[in-house]
Amino acid sequence: MIIEDRIEANVMIWQERMNRLIKEHGDYVISNVTVAQICSGIRGVPIQISDISYVDPGSGLRYRSYTINEVLNLLPRIEGSIYPMTGAIYYLLMGNEIPTYAKAMNVEEEWKARAKVPQYVYNVIDAFPETASPMSMFSAAILSMSSQSKFYQAYANGMSKDQYWHVMLDDSLDLTARAPRIAAYIYNKKYRNNQQIQADENLDLAANFAHMLGNDDPAYAELMRLFMLLHMDHENANVSAHTAHLVGSALSDIYLSCSAGLNGLSGPLHGLANQECCNWLLSLYNEYKGVPTEKQIREYVEKTLSEGRVIPGYGHAVLRCIDPRFTAQMNFAKKNLPDDDLFRTAMNVFAVVPDILKATGKVSNPWPNVDAITGTLQQHYGIKETEFYTVLFGTSRIMGFTAHVVWARALGKPIERPKALTTRHLEAMISESSYK
Ligand SMILES: CC(C)(COP(=O)(O)OP(=O)(O)OC[C@H]1O[C@@H](n2cnc3c(N)ncnc32)[C@H](O)[C@@H]1OP(=O)(O)O)[C@@H](O)C(=O)NCCC(=O)NCCS
Repeated sequence: MIIEDRIEANVMIWQERMNRLIKEHGDYVISNVTVAQICSGIRGVPIQISDISYVDPGSGLRYRSYTINEVLNLLPRIEGSIYPMTGAIYYLLMGNEIPTYAKAMNVEEEWKARAKVPQYVYNVIDAFPETASPMSMFSAAILSMSSQSKFYQAYANGMSKDQYWHVMLDDSLDLTARAPRIAAYIYNKKYRNNQQIQADENLDLAANFAHMLGNDDPAYAELMRLFMLLHMDHENANVSAHTAHLVGSALSDIYLSCSAGLNGLSGPLHGLANQECCNWLLSLYNEYKGVPTEKQIREYVEKTLSEGRVIPGYGHAVLRCIDPRFTAQMNFAKKNLPDDDLFRTAMNVFAVVPDILKATGKVSNPWPNVDAITGTLQQHYGIKETEFYTVLFGTSRIMGFTAHVVWARALGKPIERPKALTTRHLEAMISESSYK
């Protein structure tokens, strides 16, 4: 397995770097934690090393130090395609180098060989009531595969520690190969009267996913390649990635870890925001029965804010700039669907909202994030059911989860166990200190 060889060649180097840091600089203090940070979501407290991807507040996401633009330009693509293969991005995250075409194709071939979903997974999905959310179905389907985890079995048979990451990678490739089929099954079951679409083995993973969702327009395959690239990872300290990493630190297998991460992604302040954003845009469009004017948008935004709600798709906990993932999707839309009404609505909102948010004086980042436009593109290509958008997101994001978990095992990272304090402890610490 080429991706395994690449990690193998690098593991020692990264282990030595980490061990040197701990041995020579273990006492170096990185930051102090304030009471406010403890009481409000440990905001901004460094808790992880995240070499796989990093969110730079001023320039946005980096995969293995490459900007989104660099990734879009440098990664190999299949003939006739503008956007890189999903296998290329996965290789970059796992292997820490820009792959050749052959290496990226090798990942795609691994996925094809591993994509068969066991029947019991479909049975689990079928057992859900019609009203179940697609994210609950997706998470449960992934959880159900834990029973056949190779890691779980090898651990029970006394596998040695240096083998952990190899088996975790093996499971990760199985999971990431199957996830698009599971997601498409849920989509077709819930929204297309259970008319399932056979996978097309000739297609790359993203194009095949687009095909199984019922759209064979080559432009939709391109959008899916871009979508998979932009959503795969976003640092290791956000709710979902950190959850997957945390659960993995207990040596839980990759299915348990990724299902847990997906449950975090389901929250409205995290992955669910893409559906909320699209719903908000649609209701704005419907309110004015067409593409709204600047004046109408101002009116609608003020109404949303006066109801104590946020403008979905704007703001970010870390970013302080226009999200480059927004820009990449905007550029796709300008080229492929410039006259689409919802896209024009999204562009008019972009022209108006940042200034309104700036004027509130409290919003740290008035700029659009990835979710400000993702749903607009899906609507154009016929995926209208907004509650499904977080499953699309999750299908890509679990690839990032698996990269973090595999590398955590490769580096021998221990179980995570921060410390909690009582309110009384805090009060006592404050009154006994010289602080004031
Ligand atoms: C992403 C988000 C949760 C970040 O939260 P955060 O780090 O606490 O953001 P800020 O520091 O800017 O928050 C400061 C204030 O601005 C408000 N604010 C932030 N983004 C806002 C937005 N898009 N619309 C209106 N108000 C917003 C916050 O609600 C907060 O108000 P409060 O002090 O009255 O509680 C927040 O910007 C938000 O809710 N955005 C909309 C949802 C969204 O797009 N989520 C997807 C993120 S990828």
